[in-house]
Amino acid sequence: MTRRRVLVLGSGGREHALALALARSPSVTEVLVQPGNAGTTCTTSAAPIRSLGGASLAPDAVVALAKEHAIDLVVVGPEGPLCEGVVDALEAAGIAAFGPRRAAARLEASKAFLKRIAEQAGIPTAPFFITTNYEDAARYIDERGCQVVVKTDGLAGGKGAIVTSTPEEAKAAAHAMLVERVFGEAGACIVIEDRLPGDELSVHAVTDGERIFVLPVARDHKRIGDGDAGPNTGGMGAFAPVAVSQELLARIEREVLLPTLDAMRRAGAPYRGVLYAGVMVAPDGTPNLLEHNVRFGDPETQVLMPLLDGDVAELFASVAAGKLDEHAVTVATKRSAVAVVLAAAGYPDTPRTGDPIRGLEQLGSASSTIVHAGTQARGSECVTAGGRVLSVVGVAETRESARVIAYERASLIEFAGMQFRKDIAAEGILRATEPDETPKGNDQ
Ligand code: AMP
Ligand code: GLY
Repeated sequence: MTRRRVLVLGSGGREHALALALARSPSVTEVLVQPGNAGTTCTTSAAPIRSLGGASLAPDAVVALAKEHAIDLVVVGPEGPLCEGVVDALEAAGIAAFGPRRAAARLEASKAFLKRIAEQAGIPTAPFFITTNYEDAARYIDERGCQVVVKTDGLAGGKGAIVTSTPEEAKAAAHAMLVERVFGEAGACIVIEDRLPGDELSVHAVTDGERIFVLPVARDHKRIGDGDAGPNTGGMGAFAPVAVSQELLARIEREVLLPTLDAMRRAGAPYRGVLYAGVMVAPDGTPNLLEHNVRFGDPETQVLMPLLDGDVAELFASVAAGKLDEHAVTVATKRSAVAVVLAAAGYPDTPRTGDPIRGLEQLGSASSTIVHAGTQARGSECVTAGGRVLSVVGVAETRESARVIAYERASLIEFAGMQFRKDIAAEGILRATEPDETPKGNDQ
């Protein structure tokens, strides 16, 4: 059997969750994480996991690191290194890497590119306007006369999409981006698109560019407060699977995922890796594409990995080699996962760091896992080191039991200013896309 040493790039909850899944893979002997966090050094996992703690994720530095540690497979967590061409550099050095090359990572690096691909491929998406000029933006907003979302073309650390309610708010967002340059060059070009109603789903497909392996549908809770109140965050919790109908899933594959892969092949930038489509399901059932991400979602990864049995490393390696092996893993039926994010004081604006975390060592239930994100070892203590500090994941046969397990385990953890939502995966959060028996086109 293949024996693999795997390197995961990144430092968040997504990367810890990936490291845990890779460590469970029978083909893996060791998982290294660059830079990692306080949780990604662990000898009790199936294969050992170790943080390298280095600084750079630049392509050349990653190639050197992979050579130094005799790495067989690199799994890239965040979009930044993908957009800088880390996979191109690793492939040129003969090292297998899971993730798209730079040219394909443009799907996330440029919202204007995404919208043009969607338009060419006939993928349902919100009507839009692309501009570099504030006067044109203001005119479009007035003429369009509906609520819009204003987005930076380039990457803005998850903060570049402003959902607005009035033309004044929309113009202020366009002005901030184009004139004040609050997002720097990322906002030198903007996309203005209609604000769509509906339910948002996170759909992840692992792909070699032609074939797809669609993971269970997940839902993220983006707002900071209960009942979806307050500002958007990177994600305050997630659950999977969302019980969407077979019909909706088939439409998402046929109308969103496969046309994207076709369009990328035609554009000369075949897409390999995981494609994470943010889909807004309209009240009439149309799956509108909001965005493509070229990496796994965070915190979606924390709830997707526990649903996979088999060898995740083998799945990723097959994609890196250009031939998807969808038999490497199986999706567990009758298993649900819920992740509750514990965030730092001041998140999402100015998270405070350095607060000691208590309760990590207490035993929870066997089916709960603590996934680290913004954490750091300080002497014998573990302290907060970022906005999203931990995700507490519960896994059980039903979503409700998984939810109870996650919240019970979360209640054992404490740090000053800790914030978390109480309604992750709660009944009231589920709307149109939920039960299979929902009549077609019904928004209730
Ligand atoms: P994005 O950066 O494109 O992922 O957008 C961030 C978030 O803004 C999404 O997850 C949605 O919740 C929201 N959003 C983006 N585009 C739209 C849209 N056209 N209509 C409604 N909400 C949107
Ligand atoms: N959960 C949202 C994201 O990963 O972009």
